[in-house]
Amino acid sequence: MIFQQLFSLNGKVAVLIGASQGIGSEMAKILAEAGARLALVARNQEKLASLAVHLTEAGHEAMAFSCDVTRVEEVDALMERIHHHFGQIDILVNNAGMNIAKPIEEVTESDWDSVLDLNLKSAFFCSQAAGRYMVPRKQGKIVNISSQMALVGYYKRSAYCASKGGLMQMTKAMAIEWSSSKINVNSIAPTFIETPMTAPMFEDPSFRAEVLSRIPLGRLAKAEDLFGALIFLCSSSSDMVTGQTIVVDGGWTVW
Ligand SMILES: NC(=O)c1ccc[n+]([C@@H]2O[C@H](COP(=O)([O-])OP(=O)(O)OC[C@H]3O[C@@H](n4cnc5c(N)ncnc54)[C@H](O)[C@@H]3O)[C@@H](O)[C@H]2O)c1
Repeated sequence: MIFQQLFSLNGKVAVLIGASQGIGSEMAKILAEAGARLALVARNQEKLASLAVHLTEAGHEAMAFSCDVTRVEEVDALMERIHHHFGQIDILVNNAGMNIAKPIEEVTESDWDSVLDLNLKSAFFCSQAAGRYMVPRKQGKIVNISSQMALVGYYKRSAYCASKGGLMQMTKAMAIEWSSSKINVNSIAPTFIETPMTAPMFEDPSFRAEVLSRIPLGRLAKAEDLFGALIFLCSSSSDMVTGQTIVVDGGWTVW
């Protein structure tokens, strides 16, 4: 009984940004299993709606909210709609992210802005908008899905590394500022996972071999490898943990 309570999200309203595919759609399923009532957010309404139906048919509560979270002016309205529907916001998972893999010499201003706008700026403004409902209640959990690239560099990822490094620092700054409101802000930093974002890169066998050579545990991660850290950071088990990054990288960053 005590064990179940430790990791229960029963009745908690979780807003999951970037829920339509990849890591996000897998995280939706475990959050629902842990008891969360889910607001699923992404740009792709069709995929989101079918995930919401799938979860609802499995006996969970889930609702799809279409939004481009890089449009700051839409984010406040998004959180308002979610709050209106569910009556509260307890958890925010900032998972939407992208990479444009290019050598430094070829990165355009528009590439840079796209990566930073989604990976860093949208996480800030989603947190700010969700915080409007968390701060007055003096409770909340924010989990930013960062990357091992917050800690190490890699080829063709100058903007991506900058965005994820910034996200890790932002996590710390928000954790300090909102500690008085009992809002825990943490992040998870995974290694490579095969998803629609990375699948095209892994079609190149030499890229796959290069990546695997850097992971001491000898395999790519799976979305499931993040579940323990995610549920821990969303649940009351992590009430004394804030500003931290849990690295799920099979050892990549400990060389
Ligand atoms: N796949 C990996 O190897 C890997 C490794 C480390 C970290 N990450 C991080 O994990 C997160 C998820 O990655 P993924 O591989 O599942 O990506 P993905 O491209 O498969 O999915 C990204 C999700 O974000 C949503 N999204 C994209 N732009 C959006 C926007 N403007 N507004 C709203 N939603 C938007 C998409 O609809 C989708 O649901 C990202 O932050 C990524 O940086 C991924």
